[in-house]
Amino acid sequence: MAVKTNKASPKKTNTIKLKFDTSWSYAPAPESKSAATINKQYDLFINGEWVKPAGGKYFDTINPANEEQLSEVAEANVADVDKSVKAARTAYEKVWKKMPAKERAKYVFRISRMIQEKARELAIIESLDGGKPIRESRDFDVPTAANHFFYYAGWADKLEYAFPNRVAEPLGVAGQIIPWNFPLLMAAWKIAPAIATGNTVVLKPAETTPLTALKLAEIIQESDLPPGVVNIITGAGATGAAIVNHPDVNKIAFTGSTDVGKIIQRAIAGTNKKATLELGGKAANIIFEDAPLDQAVEGVINGIYFNQGHVCCAGSRLYVQESVAKQVIRKLRDRIESLIVGDPLDKNTDIGAINSKQQLETIHKYIKIGKQEGAELYESSCKLPGKGFFCRPTLFTNVAQSNRIAQDEIFGPVLAILTFRTDDEVIEKANNTPYGLSAGVWTDKGSKIFNMTKRMRAGVIWANTFNKFDPSSPFGGYKESGFGREGGLHGLSAYVNTV
Ligand code: NAI
Ligand code: MG
Repeated sequence: MAVKTNKASPKKTNTIKLKFDTSWSYAPAPESKSAATINKQYDLFINGEWVKPAGGKYFDTINPANEEQLSEVAEANVADVDKSVKAARTAYEKVWKKMPAKERAKYVFRISRMIQEKARELAIIESLDGGKPIRESRDFDVPTAANHFFYYAGWADKLEYAFPNRVAEPLGVAGQIIPWNFPLLMAAWKIAPAIATGNTVVLKPAETTPLTALKLAEIIQESDLPPGVVNIITGAGATGAAIVNHPDVNKIAFTGSTDVGKIIQRAIAGTNKKATLELGGKAANIIFEDAPLDQAVEGVINGIYFNQGHVCCAGSRLYVQESVAKQVIRKLRDRIESLIVGDPLDKNTDIGAINSKQQLETIHKYIKIGKQEGAELYESSCKLPGKGFFCRPTLFTNVAQSNRIAQDEIFGPVLAILTFRTDDEVIEKANNTPYGLSAGVWTDKGSKIFNMTKRMRAGVIWANTFNKFDPSSPFGGYKESGFGREGGLHGLSAYVNTV
């Protein structure tokens, strides 16, 4: 076969000069909006039907990447919450708890298959409504949501193996309130184990990202799930509070801010309601000098800039061993310069839009605080789109343990870098936080990994990786990060009484 020579290539030179040029760019590769159908208006999904809100009120959900309205959704008031809890109760007593478990499993399985069939549309809507890059919603959020339904479909008729020598009984009606950072995935985390174990559900998505949960309601309707087993209602904090305070709800599952988590705990104190709360985090990602540094840097980047840092388990505090700190910081600075910030629907985008104006303001507030506290700021020089809510990937060096940027959950693409010398020192520093959701350790030594994971107070600890999820692994926190576990076998026990 003839070998073609490239005429433009330099002739007979011994050295090829490679110039590192940061101005190169990819051609735009946008996913098509036309592959997704979004209604102009959405009502409430109660008892298998779409019903108008009792108060007649609707509110907008916008695309945070261009601030344009996508749709308007119903605002559920106390009467609507009551209606959905009644529907869930009736479905529980009359149909769902009596149904043989293997029949229940078929519905859960069917929902997962339908999520797969509509994966592309769900991914597009997730990115439009919430601002996350399409690569993430397509490759992570939607497939993982489907996997959760598959996983719990498998458990539905095997509860006697999950809880040997015991009988697992459902709790009844579960009120589920979810945040805006993983809208479809959080809905799956909550609904799948609940219905697989025989409970019925009233779920409320966050007010800025209701659309994929409403698409899931369409899927559930198409799946022929008996009416009332899953009810999906929209609204803001007041709607959530009405679910929490409803006397006929048996369990509250909440993911969101620590402040609201505390309100919920107070509200259900003295009642028979069970609860699982998954709240904030300030994860320590720890790099030891013997770690494979390039992989560690990639893991740190994924840990903090994934989903714009809107991740409760984001590795927002980086502890680097002093001997390699300079090297690691240089690599991180180079790497954030190459991250692509922009249109969430573009397949090349690494960092999409911040979920809301309010959240962007919170992030800016913390960047200002970091500077005032004397930390050194480095941010990517990338150009931000003119419209929408965007934030450059940012890192701070010279951070002190007591600085607020090292203590508070920022929930944005902002990394605080600290250094350490010994294992004991870093363990003490890593644990010195009100949170305890997750952590990461990067080292070549297995013994060090075990030492660290034993002594760190965090629900999930990743070793030589970060932000990896699987339906079979439990997830949840210590201290102010909440209590209870979701995922895996542990996630089943949150929805049953064992007798
Ligand atoms: P949030 O906690 O107010 O919202 C989460 C969900 O709770 C939403 O569905 C909301 O409508 C609902 N909610 C609000 N007030 C409620 C109440 N009194 N009773 C029942 N439900 C209620 O979180 P927000 O304000 O959107 O974000 C603020 C901060 O919280 C973020 O900056 C971040 O630090 C943290 N956060 C943590 C999350 C996590 O995954 N752990 C998720 C979202 C936010
Ligand atoms: Mg929105």
